Amino acid sequence: MQRAALDWKNLGFTYRKTDYNIRYTWKDGDWDNGVITDDEYIPMHMAATCLHYGQEAFEGLKVYEQKNGDVVVFRDVENARRMIRSCEKIYMPIVPEAMFQDAINRVVDANRRYVPPFGTGATLYVRPLLIGTGARIGVRPADEYMFIVMVTPVGPYFKAGFKPVSLVIEEEFDRAAPNGVGDVKVGGNYAAGLRASFKAKANGFTEALYLDAREKKYLDESGPANFFGITQDGQYVTPASHSVLPSITNMSLLQIADDMGLRPQQRPIEVNEIFNFVDAGCCGTAAVITPVKSITWRDKEAVYCSDDMPGEYCARLYNRLVNIQLGIEEDIHGWIRRLPLTD
Ligand code: PLP
Ligand code: COI
Repeated sequence: MQRAALDWKNLGFTYRKTDYNIRYTWKDGDWDNGVITDDEYIPMHMAATCLHYGQEAFEGLKVYEQKNGDVVVFRDVENARRMIRSCEKIYMPIVPEAMFQDAINRVVDANRRYVPPFGTGATLYVRPLLIGTGARIGVRPADEYMFIVMVTPVGPYFKAGFKPVSLVIEEEFDRAAPNGVGDVKVGGNYAAGLRASFKAKANGFTEALYLDAREKKYLDESGPANFFGITQDGQYVTPASHSVLPSITNMSLLQIADDMGLRPQQRPIEVNEIFNFVDAGCCGTAAVITPVKSITWRDKEAVYCSDDMPGEYCARLYNRLVNIQLGIEEDIHGWIRRLPLTD
């Protein structure tokens, strides 16, 4: 295998063309066996429901080359399950777990030369996407769907990498309604989040941190990642909310924090608790753990660390998580699946 000639250590979180993607079609009540293609475009009817009525769900996960050369994926069965929950909420046919995993095996195998080498800090980002392709003009679910898995090699989501970022509490705009679809990964949530994200950036912050939409009293999450804080007595706390996406990274950190004796707790977190934290972070597949330097709320700022020095808890959690993903520390919870590749 001749690896692609890329500057692996300096990749950003941007789309880069790879060789292939895989596509499955759902028609007459069933999925086909999927085909590998090198086409980056999708021929589609102009009345497809994904275009008009937001019948679209996606996932995001990463493939790693480990220290011993194994190519692995992190907890992909959890992404498959989350996509099933997304499908159910917006009336799309589900992608069975086995098909989801088979698609990852096949598309990574076909793009093996884009799996970043161990030790570069880059990973192969895997983006499964399910769209309603059948034509409708009335608001109804489509009768045809396409499931695509594309891959692209990436570096850190936030430009700085494992460098602290600044958040601002968003009070004007909501990302998701309390009983809406904020807890599943559907495209509309991200379109809804663009305003707050642009506003945050225009005001000099890295990202927005949302409050619960009903009371505007509790922390929710950031646009592309969950949030956690560390209390003064060293407890890992993260918001419990119906409108937050259940992050697989956060789920893993809750376990890791428990392993480390940080007595993790998922509970409603009042916004003014930000002033009691000793450390804080954003977490997600793309964000990994991004240390939070500061959170600004109205005219007050809570500061957790300096620009170039992540907090101690973020650093410990990050190291444990990434070491498991890279095969440097033992995978005691069974989170890693080795991919069956042909070479
Ligand atoms: N929250 C939102 C809104 C996201 O888009 C993501 C990314 O998937 C996350 C949180 C983190 O979830 P995960 O750790 O499963 O990637
Ligand atoms: C991820 O972390 O995989 C995401 O999907 C977040 C984002 C890039 C929207």
